[in-house]
Amino acid sequence: MDDTRLRLLYDLSCAFAEHTELHALVPSVIERARDLFKADGASILLLDPEQNELYFPYVAEEDAEAAASLLRLRLAADQGIAGYVLKSGSPTRSDSVRDDPRFFHGADEATQTQTGPLLAAPLVCRSATIGVIEVIRRVDAETFDDRDLEFLATLASSVAVAIDNARLYGQTKESKERLETTVDALTRDLARRDREHAIIGGSEATAELLQLIDTAASHPITVLIYGETGTGKELVARRVHYTSTRHDGPFIPVNCAALPQTLLESELFGHRKGSFTDAIDDRTGLFEAASGGTIFLDEIGECPPVMQAKLLRVLQEGEIVPVGDTRARKVDVRVISATNRDLAVEVSDGAFREDLFYRLSAFPIELKPLREREDDIPLLVEAFVEHANAKHERSVKGLDDGVIEILMGSHWPGNVRQLQNEIERAVVLAPQGGSVGASHLSPDLIAEIAHMPVSGLASDAPPESESGDTPATLPLREARARFEASYIRRVLISNGGNVSATARALGMSRFMVQKKLKEYGIK
Ligand SMILES: Nc1ncnc2c1ncn2[C@@H]1O[C@H](COP(=O)(O)OP(=O)(O)OP(=O)(O)O)[C@@H](O)[C@H]1O
Ligand SMILES: [Mg+2]
Repeated sequence: MDDTRLRLLYDLSCAFAEHTELHALVPSVIERARDLFKADGASILLLDPEQNELYFPYVAEEDAEAAASLLRLRLAADQGIAGYVLKSGSPTRSDSVRDDPRFFHGADEATQTQTGPLLAAPLVCRSATIGVIEVIRRVDAETFDDRDLEFLATLASSVAVAIDNARLYGQTKESKERLETTVDALTRDLARRDREHAIIGGSEATAELLQLIDTAASHPITVLIYGETGTGKELVARRVHYTSTRHDGPFIPVNCAALPQTLLESELFGHRKGSFTDAIDDRTGLFEAASGGTIFLDEIGECPPVMQAKLLRVLQEGEIVPVGDTRARKVDVRVISATNRDLAVEVSDGAFREDLFYRLSAFPIELKPLREREDDIPLLVEAFVEHANAKHERSVKGLDDGVIEILMGSHWPGNVRQLQNEIERAVVLAPQGGSVGASHLSPDLIAEIAHMPVSGLASDAPPESESGDTPATLPLREARARFEASYIRRVLISNGGNVSATARALGMSRFMVQKKLKEYGIK
């Protein structure tokens, strides 16, 4: 191979390393190939698999008009010498195409030229032929020789790899751009929903909570949120993130109880290809994905001991090691965790690492159960009625008299989530334009109230004796009256506010029940 040819291959390999954009690379390659072969034209034909046609994306021609007609031309995938080369995969030399039955005369007609000698070589990559490279001379010109053909075949294999790489790069770039657009839209949507999901409540405890959140948001400190199920732990974590300086970064929640240890580790830290059976590719973990933002480790109490040790390392060193890798990588992530377990007890039982516990709980936030902050209930109910109205296209106005007292006196084992569900259900059951009555509350809630000890009921005493603390001893008459009032109220609630049913249950007349209700001021 002479020097100029070697030089072209060398330049090509350098160009491949630099360019990933096909359009910047291929035109210059075929221009130079045309010069080198002392040819009149050089072109690349690619297969369009959908149409099963060959087309000319790149053409180097002396005559600009001829070039333009070729760029518009399409031929069936099995037409012409190019079609033959595509199918057979064999580099082909034709000294005079006019005498070659395979020649596609449409090309000469389109360009209004007369082709003479021709060389064609297949572009093969990953065992598929994706197209053909051709060089031609006009009729009566000197023919090409076998060394020319050999060189074109060599050149074709490099060009094929470059085209394949560029296509893969294009696909990756496209799917990356698509993903970025989706992530952007989702992030905006989440941020909007987080703004809508404000922390509501009128209790002292909630006012203090909001202050704690403010403090946590303005310091890059590790926060541990603990509280019973449904008390709003995730809501608080989101609020800390979205009011902190990291609010433009991602908020990534991970449920530590949802995955077995090995999967959790690769989910959090990522893995190297082949590090375990299902690791078919390198994968970035959520700690890296949360870079610049916050990772929310929910149900941290369920985190297995091996993972506890690894988390400790992240908190101490600020770096992670992907599964199957040896090198550590720095991460810039704020950690907020949450649990409904008493982690201090878990520590003394040896189930949770003490050192990790102290790291995680640098700034602890406790969420009280709803039953201990009943002053939150009226505002929460108001917001949930509004939300349920919007969600279910209802127009429920609010609650009947006495219903808020029932709600404020309930135990709420499922806390705010349970209250939210209760109100949503009631809003759906209540009449359009009407209000929520005791009969729209769920049987579970009514049953809970019916089984509550009498002293646990809101407004135990008849209204005229409502005077703060109950004295230890009462005259029997008054004690009996109190009991009677609360018992009738309880039976009334468990009968959904229906006086006739209450009377039947108590073995009294409807008239007598109504009299008692009036006497005790029960509505
Ligand atoms: N103070 C509040 N104001 C408004 N909505 C609240 C409040 N607290 C909780 N919620 C709502 O109650 C539901 C439960 O809250 P969240 O999921 O944050 O609770 P959690 O403590 O993480 O529960 P779990 O332990 O079951 O995971 C959510 O719909 C949340 O928006
Ligand atoms: Mg939660």
